[in-house]
Amino acid sequence: MLGLKIPKKQADQVRKILLKHSLMNLEQKIKRSDDYVYIPLSKKPDTYVMDEIGLKDIEIVDVEFEAHKKGPKSLKNYLEGRISHQKILDIRKSFDIIGDVVILEIPDELESEKYLIADSALKFTKRKAIYRKGSKVKGVTRTRRLEFLAGEDASETIHTEYGARFLLDVRKVYFSPRLATERERIVEQVKDGEMIVDLFAGVGPFSVSIARRRTVEIYAVDINPEAIYYLKRNMELNKLQGKINPVLGDAEKFLETENIRADRIIMNLPGTACKYLEHAISSLKKGGILHYYEFSSDFNTPVERIKEAAGARKVIIQGKRKVKSSSPGKWHMGIDAVIN
Ligand SMILES: C[S@@+](CC[C@H](N)C(=O)[O-])C[C@H]1O[C@@H](n2cnc3c(N)ncnc32)[C@H](O)[C@@H]1O
Repeated sequence: MLGLKIPKKQADQVRKILLKHSLMNLEQKIKRSDDYVYIPLSKKPDTYVMDEIGLKDIEIVDVEFEAHKKGPKSLKNYLEGRISHQKILDIRKSFDIIGDVVILEIPDELESEKYLIADSALKFTKRKAIYRKGSKVKGVTRTRRLEFLAGEDASETIHTEYGARFLLDVRKVYFSPRLATERERIVEQVKDGEMIVDLFAGVGPFSVSIARRRTVEIYAVDINPEAIYYLKRNMELNKLQGKINPVLGDAEKFLETENIRADRIIMNLPGTACKYLEHAISSLKKGGILHYYEFSSDFNTPVERIKEAAGARKVIIQGKRKVKSSSPGKWHMGIDAVIN
């Protein structure tokens, strides 16, 4: 396949020029060697473009490139020529692939094009069902309305994440594939022998991922019966080293009735977890670790909230990060805190 061989230092500037002239083949991955970068071309640049690049040390070559995995960038590329460029830009970059299900965000002004977009997504991603986000994630169960658009209307699917398998129904439970890296980060920190509470466990992505790899005991609490149903199925679907105790009910009630002394508590309910902070902290052993999540525009707010809830206990902030963006200017923040 046609590619442009460019010395490493100049690659970025050349890539921008190629993109501007729609000469990059976006379906193929850029290739790198020690000294050169190989950019896949959709067609040969003419002399005008070569003059704009203005470098002698570049060469048009025949190279084998690796195709990109399916993804939003490629979907946009696929839609090019089918709907206007501006409309393609209007489709939010963010769409989620959960197992065989694709969930797209299509703005209202593209209502008339929604089936075309969904059809393209179906063809391009080769998944089974395309749904459109019909509302924000809301309510106690943190689920959203979904509009079925293409494929077969099958909202139950199995999603694989770092080797763990999660059966879930996207209409009935919360699940975000965008938290995969965050979950892996937490799994890496857990040590054998820990007693863990996953206070807002959902279908068990934190609990199951941890128990697959560590001999721990986990209380996985969720108020949504559907989430607990799938959590139990996921405990069977995965080979676990640790023990998970699924608990259907309210986090606050659980903390009140069970006299748990935990080594680690995970609180992934970023909108309202703050209400449960004080109680959760009092259930942590001395030196216990809290993974606290909150929607915030800064780190200070969740950090101060933890310190306030901890009262006289000393808090050491071990980590803080923007896990994913939630709304303009706001992030799903993750704070790791040691509570002494
Ligand atoms: C944002 S989801 C997180 C699920 C899971 N931890 C994950 O990462 O995918 C929050 C979960 O908390 C549950 N939930 C909401 N309020 C609750 C409460 N008071 N007690 C227990 N669970 C609750 C919801 O049903 C939902 O499954």
